[in-house]
Formats: sequence, structure tokens, C-alpha cells
Amino acid sequence: MDFQLKTLTVAQAATEKADALILLVDASSTAGDVLSALAASARKAGDLPDKAGKVITLYRPAGVTAPRVVLASIGDGKPAAVRSAVLAAVQATKSGQPKRALIVFAASADPASVHAAMVAAADASYVYTATKSKSEPRSLRQLVIGVPDAKAARPAFDEASATVAGIEFAKEWGNRPGNHCTPTMLGEAARGLGAFARIKCEVLGPKEVDKLGMGSFAAVARGSSEPLRFVVLRYQGAAKDQAPVVLVGKGITFDTGGVSLKPAAEMDEMKFDMCGAASVLGVFRALGALQPAINVVGLIPSCENMNDGRALKPGDVVTSMSGQTIEVLNTDAEGRLILCDALTYAKRFEPAAVIDVATLTGACVVALGGVRSGLFASDEPLATALEAAGEASHDRCWRMPLDDEYGDGLKSNFADMANIAGRAGGAITAAKFLQKFVGEYPWAHLDIAGTAWKSGGAKGSTGRPVGLLMRYLTVRAAAATSAPATVPRKATRKVRTSP
Ligand code: BES
Ligand code: MN
Ligand code: ZN
Repeated sequence: MDFQLKTLTVAQAATEKADALILLVDASSTAGDVLSALAASARKAGDLPDKAGKVITLYRPAGVTAPRVVLASIGDGKPAAVRSAVLAAVQATKSGQPKRALIVFAASADPASVHAAMVAAADASYVYTATKSKSEPRSLRQLVIGVPDAKAARPAFDEASATVAGIEFAKEWGNRPGNHCTPTMLGEAARGLGAFARIKCEVLGPKEVDKLGMGSFAAVARGSSEPLRFVVLRYQGAAKDQAPVVLVGKGITFDTGGVSLKPAAEMDEMKFDMCGAASVLGVFRALGALQPAINVVGLIPSCENMNDGRALKPGDVVTSMSGQTIEVLNTDAEGRLILCDALTYAKRFEPAAVIDVATLTGACVVALGGVRSGLFASDEPLATALEAAGEASHDRCWRMPLDDEYGDGLKSNFADMANIAGRAGGAITAAKFLQKFVGEYPWAHLDIAGTAWKSGGAKGSTGRPVGLLMRYLTVRAAAATSAPATVPRKATRKVRTSP
């Protein structure tokens, strides 16, 4: 999506060229110009209730250049209300297939509302085309944001347009079927991001992963003829000695369950099991566009979880990169087996924080549904910052517990731990497993099994939690630049990325 930001009064917006004009209407609008007069009379007649998300469509009203005008109520004007207004308004313009649309903020355009409007407009107009032979491409390509003061809205606008690019990148890779999104292809997608300023990418294969001693990750990959990939992305927007935030994304490009085979119904949805990886790629796409002052590392262990003569079997014991041994009681609990080695690898960056993102457990879908991602954190400030970033970006999460008792069920008679505990508290026991591999760094885990994609008629990737993560990173970057320079923990930071 190509966004433009313009200073426009509502009166000026009436003569702006666009295929569709969306006017965000609140109760305070007065009838001083043609568009406001239309809104005022629709409200007076009761045709445009003040509830956010209510819209009325007008065709070629006199005095307006755009042929289609959608008046959209924004209720209390809060970002969530603006979001539902824009979703409904963009939906209402769809039949006319507008290429260039204009969203007009009448009175004020606070940064959070501008952000919400842009993300919602992109969400409502996204079209998947990668594997369709003759699909209609996305019609809406240009979106002009008209605000009373473009200069004031600029930072929010820039952050939102970068975030949208990241969300769409994540959706695109998330939606691709397994045969169009292998670990090799995911690695190539990551490598492509190296074209952006300040981004470097390295992609490791089976030999390097063996050499690193990632025995747990390698064991999951063994049942597939697709070779695994381990992606190391680096964005350097701040001084070299500033400790990075490390993002780890689960990249299972297809999860059959392995020998502990999943049931056939809806198994196709397990192509989405790389949405954690896709969100990390999406964040790097957004960082490439925005270039904020922060250092970020992205780690993506990627493979298929398949079934064949070489596949991992229930009862097998594998040795992780940390040296800890794991009894694999269920080969379908594979996400934690690939993430644990990435969490060990993360130590070499001496991170300021590590956040892993994974479609990890069906239990998290049961617990939180599709509204909030599960948030587990060993560090209070990190948890608080991620919760706040979730609220601000409308990409919400909910804190879950990590009491030690939840880890009791992971005991094994044959290894240092088992990869599953009982059925109870499955999202939490998975997090407790990961915690055994966490280094001294502050750590958080986002279980996005319920939020990364939608099922049913609207089946498709959501691009979450790119919005949450970008908000977290930009807030962090702003705090670091306004605070006095911190003393680096070590005079020189030597970082190894190759074996
Ligand atoms: N990728 C799945 C988790 C999942 C399941 C995400 C359903 C979204 C919807 C993960 O690899 C998995 O299979 N987890 C198992 C763990 C169990 C064997 C302990 C699960 O949740 O059933
Ligand atoms: Mn699984
Ligand atoms: Zn999985």
C-alpha cells in the first residue's frame, strides 16, 4: 500500500482527486462546508448514528470531486473506534474497486488514531494473490491521509506505513501454502531483506546447524526431505555497542505432527505454523522502511515437521545446543524443540531482551481465543512494555503465569526433561519448557497460536504480532535516544554468528 500524508481541511478535501473519499465524522462536526453539511444532515435524519462503524455511502454528491463518499461515524473518536469506522468504510467502498482513496480526519488527528486508521485500511483491502491464476489484484493501492496538520502527524504516519509494510509481508508469507513456503524459500525471503539499509542476513543450513550442536532442532527436521534453515537477521540502527533486542520466530513451514500425527481435519492450517517466523520477517521489513535508532537481531529456526523412516520417534532422546537432553514424548510438540536451540544461540548477542514468537500450542487457543496472544515473561519491565505496546497497536496480548509448579510435569526418567507435560495448562507448560533454555537475559514468549491466523470463511494470516512488536521497538528506540547514553556493558562487543 502506498500512503500519502496531506494537510487538508474538510473543505479542501471536497475537491481532492480520489476514487473514494472517506470522511471520519464525529458529533462535533459543524456544517461549514459541503462534506460537513452532508454529514450533519445525515446525522440529523438519523441515517448516520454516532456509533463507531456506522457508515453511509453517497454517490456523486454535488460539490465533491470524488465519485464515492463514505461518511463514517467514529463514535468517541478513540483509536479503537477509528479502527472500526475505517474497516467498515473501506469495506463499503469495495464494490467500486477504488484505486486511490482519501481518508479525511475532520477535527483532530491524534497520532494513535492516524496509526489505527492506516493499519485498518490496509487490513480491509489486503488481497492474497500469490497462488491464484486469475485473481483480481488488490484494487486499493493509494491511500491519502488528510489531516489538519501533516507535520504533527508525520511521525505516526511514518511508523504506521512501515508497520503496514511489515504486516503485509508477514501476511503474504503466512498465507503461502507449504509447497510455496519451504524453509529454503523462507531463507531466501529473509536474504532479500538484506537489500535494506542497515540489514544484514545470514542463512545457515543443516551442516552449520549440526556443527553448532543444535541437536534438538536438527532432530525435528530429520523427517523431511526439505533441508532446514536457520536465519540470522541483523538490523543495526544504533551504536554497535548497544545491546540488541533479539526476536526469535518459530518457522515450521508445515506441521503434520510427525509420528504423533495430527488428525486430517483442518490440517491444512498447519501451513500457518511459521507465522512466528513471518512476524519476525515482517518486523525486519518494517525496520528497513522506518530505520529507527535501535539494534535488533532476528533468529528463525525453520523446517518441516514430517513423517518418514528417519523421523523422530516418541521416546527418542535428543541433545539440545545447551547440552540438556530431552525425551521427545510427543513429536507434535516440535515448536519448543526448535525454539530451545535458538534461545541458546541468542546468548551470544548479549541481548537487552529476547522475545520469542510462536504458534506454539492449541491450549493457548482454548485459553485466549483469537483476540489476545498469550504473553509469558520472566522480566516485569519487559512484560509491562509488551502489554502496553499491544494495547497501543490494538495487537493485544494477555499475561500468563510462569510459576515453577507448572514445570513439574516435564520430568523424565530417561532425559533431563520431557518435551510435554499433561494436558492441563498446556500453553504454560510449553512456556516452562522454553524457560529452561533461557539465558540471563530478560525473556518474553508470545504464543500466537490463536491470533496469527483466522479460520473459516475468512481463513488467512493476520500479520500479528508485527504491530505489537514494532510499537515495542519504536517506543524503546525513542526512550534510548532521549535518555543519556548508557555505558556499554563491555568495552567491545564481539559477536559470533558463524559456527
Ligand atoms: N503448531 C501446533 C500448535 C497449534 C495447534 C497451533 C493448533 C494452532 C492451532 C504445535 O506444534 C502443536 O502441535 N502443539 C501441540 C502440543 C501438544 C502435543 C503438547 C498441541 O497444542 O496440541
Ligand atoms: Mn506440532
Ligand atoms: Zn507446530
